[in-house]
Amino acid sequence: MTDTPLPADAAVSYDPYSYEIDEDPFPVYRWMRDHAPAYHNERLDFWAVTRFADNLAFLTDSARLTSTFSTSLEFMDSPKPDSGLMIWMDPPRHNRYRGLVSKAFTPRAIRELEPAIHRIAIGHLDKLRDSSSFDVVEAFTARLPMDVISELLGIPAEQRRWVQLRSNAMLHREPGNPMPTQEAMDAVKELMAYYDELIRERRARPQDDMLTRLTQVEVADESGETARLSDEDIRQFLSLLGTAGNETVTKLLATAFHELWRNPDERRAIVENPDVATTAVEETLRFDPPSQYQGRVANVEIELHGKRIPAGAKVLCINGASGRDERKYPEPDRFDVRREIDLHLGFGYGRHICIGAYLARMESRIAIQEVLARWPEYEIPADGLTRMHSSNVRGFASVILEVA
Ligand code: HEM
Repeated sequence: MTDTPLPADAAVSYDPYSYEIDEDPFPVYRWMRDHAPAYHNERLDFWAVTRFADNLAFLTDSARLTSTFSTSLEFMDSPKPDSGLMIWMDPPRHNRYRGLVSKAFTPRAIRELEPAIHRIAIGHLDKLRDSSSFDVVEAFTARLPMDVISELLGIPAEQRRWVQLRSNAMLHREPGNPMPTQEAMDAVKELMAYYDELIRERRARPQDDMLTRLTQVEVADESGETARLSDEDIRQFLSLLGTAGNETVTKLLATAFHELWRNPDERRAIVENPDVATTAVEETLRFDPPSQYQGRVANVEIELHGKRIPAGAKVLCINGASGRDERKYPEPDRFDVRREIDLHLGFGYGRHICIGAYLARMESRIAIQEVLARWPEYEIPADGLTRMHSSNVRGFASVILEVA
């Protein structure tokens, strides 16, 4: 894939909207790391960092780089100071919000989900028992994460499919247009109304679920005042989970099943020892993460590799490129499910580091183990892969597995 590097003087342009980049961004990323480590795209008006060390430094520098313009290039033209999405907040607002949400989103609450995740995964996979070929995205990886989030929150089983379809509709984009469609905007409205109803219900009749805990948590803020989550705060958190915790796991698993097909020895390593699925998840997050970049805007001028990134500039921290940085990882283009990785940026880093990382790791490991336990060998036909297109989410919309 990335064997022959692009020459230093190649006319390389990195365009996150391009379908060509979606096919294989890695030669372009390599060229940027080697020849333009502070990359500037004049036409689309953004800068990008690709080396691991620069990305790590930028993601931990929320004083000089703000999240409040959003984190996807297509939305970053204007600040969104009133956004209720924590992923678009800076401190101190972000501290307060994350502090509250973390009190409900505890490792214990997530650990307790493990039997339910097995049950949900097995339920989907058992339906495929008699199939000789199926789309693993449609039948499994797109369903599991939303079912797991619904289980966590306590969304009733009969409403889950509807929530999932609406959450997917919310993310849908037409080719060549990164902005939300009318259907996507309608889906947001319908979901918000639905979440309002759920929150009202939990306030009236508390249950033993995360949604109830979100209505109850309190923290003392800097001034000693007790802070609580408002209905609006909770609504925004639920809607963030529908995107941040849904599409990402779906795509991570689709990429993993593709790489495990391309690298049969790696697949066999997991079949022989299912514990290896744990490191296979980390390797997939390093090798080809679902969230390819985190967008920020510079609060001040930043000097990097002899360039001056001006105050107000949009900056993409491309963790998809940092995972392949040979300054950090030996043989970075080799997919190695037993690789020992001390740190990757697949879940971001710093104050916004993925709050769902523990859950994502657990469900991804279980999903890989359950699929390979049933189908240790599978093929993907020549026309069996369809990529999805988005400026920062990378992965497949469809992956056909032939299992017989
Ligand atoms: C493989 C799956 C996942 C990947 C690759 C992923 C990736 C990320 C990344 C890169 C960030 C940092 C964004 C930034 O710095 O701007 C993030 C934040 C976040 N993720 Fe995940 N995520 C995954 C799964 C999940 C799950 C399962 C949940 C919840 C159910 C979740 C909830 C969140 C939330 C709420 C944030 C915002 C945290 C904050 O702003 O403090 N994610 N995720």
